Amino acid sequence: MVGAGYVGLVSGACFAEFGAEVTCVDVDPDRVAGLRDGAVPIYEPGLEDLVRRNADDGRLRFAIGPGAEVGTADLVFIAVGTPARRGDGHADLRHVYQAAKKLAPNLRGYTVVVTKSTVPVGTAREVHRIVRDTRPEADFDVASNPEFLREGSAIEDFMRPDRVVLGVESARAEALLRELYRPLNLIETPILATGIESAELTKYASNAFLATKISFINEIAALCEATGADVHAVARGMGLDGRIGRKFLHPGPGFGGSCFPKDIAALSRIAVERNVPARIVEATIAANAAQRGRMREKIRNALDGDVEDKRIGVLGLTFKPETDDMREAPSLHVLPPLVDEGARIRAHDPQGMEAAAAHLPETVRFCADPYEVAEGADAVVLMTEWNAYRGLDLERVRDAMDGRVFVDLRNVYEPGSMRTLGFRYVGVGR
Ligand code: UGA
Repeated sequence: MVGAGYVGLVSGACFAEFGAEVTCVDVDPDRVAGLRDGAVPIYEPGLEDLVRRNADDGRLRFAIGPGAEVGTADLVFIAVGTPARRGDGHADLRHVYQAAKKLAPNLRGYTVVVTKSTVPVGTAREVHRIVRDTRPEADFDVASNPEFLREGSAIEDFMRPDRVVLGVESARAEALLRELYRPLNLIETPILATGIESAELTKYASNAFLATKISFINEIAALCEATGADVHAVARGMGLDGRIGRKFLHPGPGFGGSCFPKDIAALSRIAVERNVPARIVEATIAANAAQRGRMREKIRNALDGDVEDKRIGVLGLTFKPETDDMREAPSLHVLPPLVDEGARIRAHDPQGMEAAAAHLPETVRFCADPYEVAEGADAVVLMTEWNAYRGLDLERVRDAMDGRVFVDLRNVYEPGSMRTLGFRYVGVGR
């Protein structure tokens, strides 16, 4: 497994759990040394245990590389980062191609080189060219095996996936990959073998479709507010149609994270380059940006149109619960403009405060718990639906506040009971 980051570590530990012998290699010596001591550098529920157990059992090792360990491998996965390139939205493939160049001289015997990072159509073929140019005599195939892991439930997603997609060009490569995923046959997971380009595009199309579902329901939520409908009733009514499905129809402050925003921007770039209009994808991007603006407006309106000198307590900063990831978190788009308008913000997050501090204005104060956030606040804004905020002692929150405004951007609470408690409650689409 080349790259001991998020995807590499989760995949490496899970393959080891399946019974494979895995070596995760990384260029960062500190990271490798830490992992050898059992220090997992990211927050993902269950990952530390899984890494430790498989390392103790001798199936999971860590090394600086890629180096000699590539020679003994049947499959080499490239799971390095593909950040959005500054300026143009393209995925930055530098690390992928460097990994290919570095692993090529170490190949021994037949090997399948598999791209696992999310990469644009054509990348696996370019990896093939690089390896072939570097080692003309090497016996290898390339394959694409995109991951569909969600942060916060990555291990469950890996162990019980809806499907596994294998982009392959040779029966030999397909057989090796199927063998690796064989434990999933027990739970009858569909394992789909396709061409390489189809596998690469399946990943982008899936993320773009899910993001579109979110933007769609967010626009319907705004329409609900304008017409007196309740978005949850509408989403339930829609979702019971099996063709639509109920998942990913939860309104909120817009999608964020390390995947959706980056991947749909990349897909839109690919479409422009190939001269194929991707109007729906572009509209999804625009609708998501508009949703953040709408959330700022919601907070402003709840405070009678002006946030200057208002004290706002914020619950949750990460882009979703069960992660410390702040990348493209809605809070980073909603809060700074309010600070510019003079709002005084206190915030809490169970995991993300350290990461958030680096990105939020210096005047944002961080609190030890949700009740400290509420102290003296004119409004409390629930940004991320952490479990810790689902069972708040609401009377304690209310009594700690100066004002009565509760803006629930994740619709965690019931409007009727919040009003009974004396809050001026504002949700999304209700
Ligand atoms: C997403 C996909 O769900 C994974 O299948 C994919 O593998 C991954 O990207 C990736 O490409 O690596 P992730 O970004 O971890 O996973 O998070 P999601 O749970 O999908 O949530 C993304 C965003 O959408 C969050 O900001 C979340 O709050 C928002 N969301 C999600 C909604 O606003 N409403 C919903 O109904 C669902």
